Amino acid sequence: MGKNNKPIDWSDKCWKEMLVYQRKMLWTEGTIDNLASWLGLRQGMTAVDIGCGLGYLGYTYWPYFGRGGHYIGIDNNLDNLKQAGEASPEWTKGGRTDFVNGSAYQLPFPDNYADLVMCQVVMIHLAEPEKALAEMVRVAKPGGLIMCKEPDNLSASLTQHCWSLPDFDVETQLLMKKIHIISNIGRIKLGLGDASFGRKIPHVLKTLGLVDIGIRNNDKVHYLDPPYDTPMMKNAIERVGKDILDKNRRDKLSAWEREQFVAGGGDPAEYDKMKIKADDVVEEMRTQIEQGRYHACAGSMFFVIKGRKKS
Ligand SMILES: C[S@@+](CC[C@H](N)C(=O)[O-])C[C@H]1O[C@@H](n2cnc3c(N)ncnc32)[C@H](O)[C@@H]1O
Repeated sequence: MGKNNKPIDWSDKCWKEMLVYQRKMLWTEGTIDNLASWLGLRQGMTAVDIGCGLGYLGYTYWPYFGRGGHYIGIDNNLDNLKQAGEASPEWTKGGRTDFVNGSAYQLPFPDNYADLVMCQVVMIHLAEPEKALAEMVRVAKPGGLIMCKEPDNLSASLTQHCWSLPDFDVETQLLMKKIHIISNIGRIKLGLGDASFGRKIPHVLKTLGLVDIGIRNNDKVHYLDPPYDTPMMKNAIERVGKDILDKNRRDKLSAWEREQFVAGGGDPAEYDKMKIKADDVVEEMRTQIEQGRYHACAGSMFFVIKGRKKS
């Protein structure tokens, strides 16, 4: 994870694990078929994936554009590019694939190059996402498609929990929401991105002159119910163990968030007060999981936004 609020190093083990783990559970079966048809994907497209990471978007949509097509994953993390390139022969039959080192702010393509320019969970991490979106539009062909899959993690963190843990008192709930809001202000100030940016993309695409703008939300509901015996729940329990119950990892994430809260103008004493309460709840969660009593259910605010460059 990012140390001292430097940009995240996506080749760091814990973040890379997240790219693999989360991606396995992102969509309800059948949704990708529906999305591919809504997007109007067709075989033989030239597709550019900005901030491709391990190549998940290419892998996901290859069956809809890959025959006779060309997928180019762009990232500024060499380690991820190497790993993505090594894995790609498994899924890129019938077309061409390249993984290229490059910046989202200066794509290594001429104007009007690609049929499809896409990204997933990249804009929310950029200091200047509008600039990167303009670059995506520049390299799309006239009539070409822009597709962004980006969340609004801030709004998601402000929603109410549905779980077996006791509710916090109202004052603590408000404090937690305040911390999320101020931390995002700090995050933006530090140049680490805007966790809410997914929600803003349709507007930005409109200002960039795109047409046929549309938005869908991910319809996946994540359930965690004892005895946690489906592959997805086993996976989720393992992740909860690593991200939440592991005190070292939790403390690192908290330290990272605390710095953002302070950068946003928050009072560190307030953060520390909230953390004590949050730590108590984590211990209750640990007990409930061990006793097979813990359950939770949550949706997501993960948008799929499309727009078309004017012909
Ligand atoms: C959260 S990961 C998403 C990876 C992939 N799109 C996925 O959904 O699995 C963000 C990716 O964006 C890349 N990235 C961040 N800033 C970038 C920039 N300025 N130019 C190019 N890639 C960047 C990171 O290296 C990382 O691989």
